[in-house]
Amino acid sequence: MSELAALLNQAEQDITAAKTLPDINDLRVKYLGKSGLITSKLKTLGALPVEERKTAGQEINKIKEAVAKLVNDKINQLEQAEITKKLATETLDITLPIRPTPKGSIHPITQVIDEVTSILGGLGFNFVDGPNLEDDFHNFTALNIPATHPARQMHDTFYVDVDGEEKVLRTHTSPVQIRTMKAGKPPFKIISAGRTYRSDSDITHTPMFHQVEGLYIDKNIHMGHLKYVLQQFIEQFFGIKDVPMRFRPSYFPFTEPSAEVDIGCSRNKGDLKIGAGNSWLEVLGCGMVNQNVLKNVGIDPDEYQGFAFGMGIERLAMLKYNIADLRTFFTADARWLEHYGFNSLNIPNLVSKI
Ligand code: DAH
Repeated sequence: MSELAALLNQAEQDITAAKTLPDINDLRVKYLGKSGLITSKLKTLGALPVEERKTAGQEINKIKEAVAKLVNDKINQLEQAEITKKLATETLDITLPIRPTPKGSIHPITQVIDEVTSILGGLGFNFVDGPNLEDDFHNFTALNIPATHPARQMHDTFYVDVDGEEKVLRTHTSPVQIRTMKAGKPPFKIISAGRTYRSDSDITHTPMFHQVEGLYIDKNIHMGHLKYVLQQFIEQFFGIKDVPMRFRPSYFPFTEPSAEVDIGCSRNKGDLKIGAGNSWLEVLGCGMVNQNVLKNVGIDPDEYQGFAFGMGIERLAMLKYNIADLRTFFTADARWLEHYGFNSLNIPNLVSKI
C-alpha cells in the first residue's frame, strides 16, 4: 500500500471510531490542520522534481478532499444523533394541566388613555406622540408663553441639562400641538396623551402625571364644534347621557377665548356622583387656539382657526373608577393594581354603554 493510501486508511478508521464532536474536531486538526498529517504532505511537494510535482499534488489533494468529506459527514451524523437523543429525552406531556401563571393587569392610567383614544378616535382625531424631554420653544415660547410670562412660574418646571443644552421635562402635553402644526399643513385633528412633569408634590399633585391634549384646526372651526366634541367625549367616557356641562371663562396663554369645563355632579357626604346634581366639578381646560400660536407655527389665522383642549388623566381615572388617593397610582403596589387594574383582554368601554 502506498504511503498516501495508508494515510487515508488510517484517517477512515480514526473517523469511524470517533464518538463525540470534540473527538472529530481533534481528528480534523490532526489530518487537515495547519501542521496536520495531510497538510505536511502538501508541504513536501516543493522538494520533488518538477515532473512528479503535479501528479503528486493532485493525489494529495484527492486524499485531502476525501478526508474533509469524511469529517463533515461524521459531524452531521453526530449532530443528528444528538438532536434525536434530545427529542427522545425532552418530551413534553401536553395533556398535563398548566402551571398557574401570575395574572397581569392593565394599570388604570393605561386603561383611561385607551378609552380616551378610542372615543376621540371615533370622532376622527388621530393619535400623535411627542417627546417627554422638550425645549423651551415648544413647551413655552411657541405656545405664547414668553420668558417673562408669569405662567412659567405656575408650571414649576424641571430643567434638565442635556450636553450643555437646557431642556425641560414637558410641563404639559400642549407642545405636541406645536410639533404637529410645524410638521405638516392644516387641517389638523389630533390628540396626544402621555407623561407630564412638574416640581410639585402633595396630596393632590405628583411630580409626574398624565395629560390628554386635543387640537382641531381647519377653516371655519368654532366653539360650537368644541362644545360638541367635549359633550360627546364626557358622555361616552362616563357612560352617562346628558351630563350637564358649563363653560366657565378662564385664561390660558395659548387659547383666546379660554374656558374651563365643569360637569354636573352630586355630592352626598363625601360621595361623589357624576351626572345631574347639586354641584359642579372642573374637568378640563380648553379654548380657541390663540392667533399668536398659529402665527408662531406659520399658519395664517385669517384662513385657519380651531380649538384645543387639555385634561388630566389621573383626575379622569379617579372620577370614573372611584380611586380616592392620587399618590397610590405610582406606588407600584401589586395589591392596589389587583384591585383597580383591568383584565388585559378588557375592551375600553365606549358608546355602546349609553
Ligand atoms: N396645558 C394646560 C395645562 O397644562 C391644559 C390646557 C388648557 C390645554 C387649555 C389646552 C387648552 O390645549 O386649550 O394646564
